[in-house]
Amino acid sequence: MSKQCGMGINKDDAMAESIKKLFAENRFSRIIECGTFNGLGSTSRFCEQIKDNPIPFFSIEVNTFYYAMAHQNLRKAGLKNLVTLINGLSVPRNLLPKKEEIDLSIAYSDFMNAEDPKQPYLDEVDFNVLDDVLGELYQTDYEQENELLFLDSAGHMGWIEFQYAISLARKNKTIILDDTNHIKHFKSMQHIRQHPKIFTIIEENPDRHGFAIIKYHPEQTK
Ligand SMILES: C[S@@+](CC[C@H](N)C(=O)[O-])C[C@H]1O[C@@H](n2cnc3c(N)ncnc32)[C@H](O)[C@@H]1O
Repeated sequence: MSKQCGMGINKDDAMAESIKKLFAENRFSRIIECGTFNGLGSTSRFCEQIKDNPIPFFSIEVNTFYYAMAHQNLRKAGLKNLVTLINGLSVPRNLLPKKEEIDLSIAYSDFMNAEDPKQPYLDEVDFNVLDDVLGELYQTDYEQENELLFLDSAGHMGWIEFQYAISLARKNKTIILDDTNHIKHFKSMQHIRQHPKIFTIIEENPDRHGFAIIKYHPEQTK
């Protein structure tokens, strides 16, 4: 297991508390999650919130082994019927960065002491699976008002995945970014702060590598 994936959202984490509060205050129409890992972290937290009132929930995981593990873990926990797990890459394959395009200097990254700190990130998404799952899920007929989008993929993919999701999104939604004080979503947060007309920051929390909850309201500009 790579180091960054050991950091799932546990039941007593600040993020778990914020997720509970968010569901108490909102009625979401659909959940899309990027980065299932073993299913015991954020995926389970969302399942627990929709147990009594299920809504469509899609969780994307590129790693075939983790995808299988998540199936098994969620089945054991009695949560499997609440989520559709998809073994795929969130973005089109041509958006995957080349090694020389990865900039680890902007914020904390996971493998700083490794001899080749970019290679684990490249390996993390190197699976021959379906790509552009977000593109499929955001087809015009599928997207609904008030969805919840949770972005927690590979460190070097956060900003790319965020931009891609925003380029597809046409309707109001709530976005949770994990690892905002980390290369994963450092740039995404800079972008959000620079565009207050379409993004409202609901919560910024420094827990672990930071997370943020944001309302996206694109109709004001599109
Ligand atoms: C930080 S872990 C996710 C942790 C999980 N959300 C939790 O709370 O336990 C990141 C996961 O995203 C997967 N991943 C990375 N990049 C991805 C991508 N572009 N599309 C789909 N899955 C991706 C990795 O294989 C890894 O399992």
